[in-house]
Amino acid sequence: MSNGYSSGIEPTISINNLHRIYHLEGEDIHAVNGISLDIWPNYMTAIVGRSGSGKTTLLNLVAGLDNSTQGDIHILGRNLSAMNEPERLNMRLHEIGFVFQSFGLMPLLSAFENVSIPLRMRGASPRERDAQVREALEWVGLAERAKHRPYELSGGEQQRVAIARALAAHPKLILADEPTGQLDTRTGRRILDLLRRLVVEREITVVIVSHDPQVMQEADVVHEMRDGKLMETRIKPGIILPDGSKGNTAYMEDSRSAYTVA
Ligand SMILES: Nc1ncnc2c1ncn2[C@@H]1O[C@H](COP(=O)(O)OP(=O)(O)OP(=O)(O)O)[C@@H](O)[C@H]1O
Ligand SMILES: [Mg+2]
Repeated sequence: MSNGYSSGIEPTISINNLHRIYHLEGEDIHAVNGISLDIWPNYMTAIVGRSGSGKTTLLNLVAGLDNSTQGDIHILGRNLSAMNEPERLNMRLHEIGFVFQSFGLMPLLSAFENVSIPLRMRGASPRERDAQVREALEWVGLAERAKHRPYELSGGEQQRVAIARALAAHPKLILADEPTGQLDTRTGRRILDLLRRLVVEREITVVIVSHDPQVMQEADVVHEMRDGKLMETRIKPGIILPDGSKGNTAYMEDSRSAYTVA
């Protein structure tokens, strides 16, 4: 696929005029209303906006968990609408890690078993699986908590288990829906540091859906949604994206915001 970007780097996700209309009891809800944006590899990108602005709907469409009403999504070099359900599932299992707001851990399973679930679904051998689970738990600093069940862990630890689960299969992309939503500020900070290390040390593209101000501070690129539309894209000072877009330096001097307006 070539899209003519001069850097030769392709976006990890490219969304083009995307719409999702829900039909509910005779009412049309335009949850995603004509979104176009690119998400670039090896950056932390945030999609922010008020409750009901369409963030989760957009994330579900990107992951192939829901079908758009109109528009295109290219993800990890493929056209999502041309993929059938087994192909989408395969992509989710092998190339994408998910982190959910409510951690999404199985209450009766240990941290170790929870992290191993996607690897089991992939059919990894027990040896490979155990090594990857151990490595992932070590990476999030929870090797000593491997045997704990979720209720024997703090909220921050549970979210770290969820991150270990997302990264155990060595994905290229992590999609996180409100990963700090249920955490206090300090614990949320630790989770963001961990997600930042995934970008820097493991070259994983991280996309976070959130309304947490800390996430907006930390992300390299912030796309703000309102009523299903993209209102604004802010890029951290000093960053020039592969398509040439960058922050506006005049705005950078403005101490009210750590961001610049693209
Ligand atoms: N399955 C559905 N059927 C009908 N309407 C839906 C469905 N899912 C979401 N919506 C509506 O679409 C809009 C966008 O919802 P969405 O969950 O994407 O918002 P959000 O930005 O993730 O909000 P939050 O920050 O509260 O998680 C809302 O008005 C919601 O009520
Ligand atoms: Mg949501």
